[in-house]
Amino acid sequence: MGRSKITVVGAGFVGGTIAQRLVETDSYDVVLLDVVEGLPQGKALDLSEASPICGFEPRIVGTNRFDDTADSSLVVVVAGVPRKPGMSRDQLLETNTRIVRAVVRDIVARSPLAIILMVTNPLDAMTYVAYQVSQFPKQRIVGMAGVLDSIRFRTFIANELNVSVDNVQAIVLGCHGDSMVPLVRYTTVAGRPIEEWISKDTLQALVKRTRKGGGEIVSLLKTGSAYYAPAASVVEMVEAILKDQKKILPAAALCEGEYGIHNLFAGVPVKFGSHGVEEIVVFDLTPEEQVALEHSVNAVRAQCQKVDQLLGCQA
Ligand code: 2OP
Repeated sequence: MGRSKITVVGAGFVGGTIAQRLVETDSYDVVLLDVVEGLPQGKALDLSEASPICGFEPRIVGTNRFDDTADSSLVVVVAGVPRKPGMSRDQLLETNTRIVRAVVRDIVARSPLAIILMVTNPLDAMTYVAYQVSQFPKQRIVGMAGVLDSIRFRTFIANELNVSVDNVQAIVLGCHGDSMVPLVRYTTVAGRPIEEWISKDTLQALVKRTRKGGGEIVSLLKTGSAYYAPAASVVEMVEAILKDQKKILPAAALCEGEYGIHNLFAGVPVKFGSHGVEEIVVFDLTPEEQVALEHSVNAVRAQCQKVDQLLGCQA
């Protein structure tokens, strides 16, 4: 059997870092695509030239043409603009809906059996755009955010306690925004509940920091947003899918009644395998956790209504 083909649409810092991590696994054929001429070609060539000393085959091409993406098993969509100073979330939603719609149409025409993994923000709404435009079954559309939010939470806890990140288990649900829901009750360190390790106040501070984790990086970098941890998160999901790992990871998936959420993409625990989203795993939530999740999901619902209008009038 040949290698699975993976396309990454968007060759900026996030897309380029995803491509690097993927090609370094030496398991896939990678296509890096961008509208900017030379950018994906340059990054792909540069990555190829690292291969002789980095222990992988240079199975990567950079391109501006969607025809080169044909028959991809999985397509990661990073394309879109980041929020610039003075830009409202609604403006971002409008611009990126337009971009994602065009990209998804181009993908679907050439890779009708692909799994689409969305990364563009606002994440949950853009995953919904991909679902609406592609008309793919819900198993083949998923968004990356919960893994990123969870690894941020795990990192902050590990640093606070001076223990290995390996010892810290945590899961963050809800939408990728300030209202996300780090599930404190399911957070453990070496199997012991987090509340036995850390004071309530400190824990609350870490939850708050996790919610604003993306913004913290933006304010440090000043010229862009995070890319190392987002890329690592994407690759964990890609491997779970293409290696049929049956791994449970938080991700934006279409809920049809799970967690009381109807017909909306929301961050929930997902079992990943070769079919994509193979199952939404339902945890027992307390009434407070359920309310927090509903509050978080309401923000996505409003965005999706706007998306419906945009897709309706732009179609
Ligand atoms: C992040 O959380 C910007 O969504 C991106 O870093």
